[in-house]
Amino acid sequence: MSSRNQPPFAVEPVAGEPWVKLANGDELKGWGKDDEIAFNQNNRQIEKYRFFIKTFDFLTDNRVRGDYHEFGCHRCRTFRMALTEARRHNADSMKFFAFDSFEGLPDSSGHSVEIWTRGALTTTVDQFMTMVREHGIYVDRVTPIKGFYNDSLTSALRQKFLDTENKLALVNIDCDLYESAVPVFDFIEPLLQEGTVLYIDDLFAGYKGSPAKGVARAFREFRARSRFRFVRHLDIGWWGRSYIAYIDPSAPAEGIEL
Ligand SMILES: C[S@@+](CC[C@H](N)C(=O)[O-])C[C@H]1O[C@@H](n2cnc3c(N)ncnc32)[C@H](O)[C@@H]1O
Repeated sequence: MSSRNQPPFAVEPVAGEPWVKLANGDELKGWGKDDEIAFNQNNRQIEKYRFFIKTFDFLTDNRVRGDYHEFGCHRCRTFRMALTEARRHNADSMKFFAFDSFEGLPDSSGHSVEIWTRGALTTTVDQFMTMVREHGIYVDRVTPIKGFYNDSLTSALRQKFLDTENKLALVNIDCDLYESAVPVFDFIEPLLQEGTVLYIDDLFAGYKGSPAKGVARAFREFRARSRFRFVRHLDIGWWGRSYIAYIDPSAPAEGIEL
């Protein structure tokens, strides 16, 4: 991978002042669309990984114990981050559930991303589990749950999780679409506990940043009906944010802003 696609954060002194080292015209000669995409993707993966490092430290420091649910698993990039940081924090009782159609996105409307078409972003269960095995961390505690959420996240499955699994420590909601996020929030609600971290990846993606649409809308609607309140925690790049669940019967639905 070319180093010119890596986010630059070096600082060098110029005339006694610190100047951020920026790519100049020579270095960006011939810079095209593929370079632009690679640059953005590299930057995004770094931001996401920073989030996982910080959040597992938060969970450990606050003794929030429970499982990891990821809704939108695709190429196993964030799932691997969760596995690595769980191992680093010796989260030896944590289980990891990967919820995905494993057939890509469903039909959708109302967003501004041309490539979000039915079947886009497909990774099969076999491909996903091969990546998990190659990563080699807590492999026997990873369970893929295949299906489009409208079909797979049944009340029977939710009851099974309530009866047999741990509450949630960390939830990663990375499924892009309003239609996809609505059943996810309803599924996780009874599994939340004080301290559960919700990482909402697409809060400002896909719908021109409008809180009236997309995953942001699904989250706003969920907040209004949940018995939990959610305090804003970390920003992940320009697109995502995490929240921490807590109980406060006297608080307004939108929670306490810090
Ligand atoms: C942006 S990708 C997830 C990226 C992944 N976290 C990673 O780091 O590689 C979005 C994923 O959400 C899944 N998805 C979106 N809507 C879904 C739905 N309604 N039911 C099941 N899976 C869905 C897609 O199949 C796709 O794998």
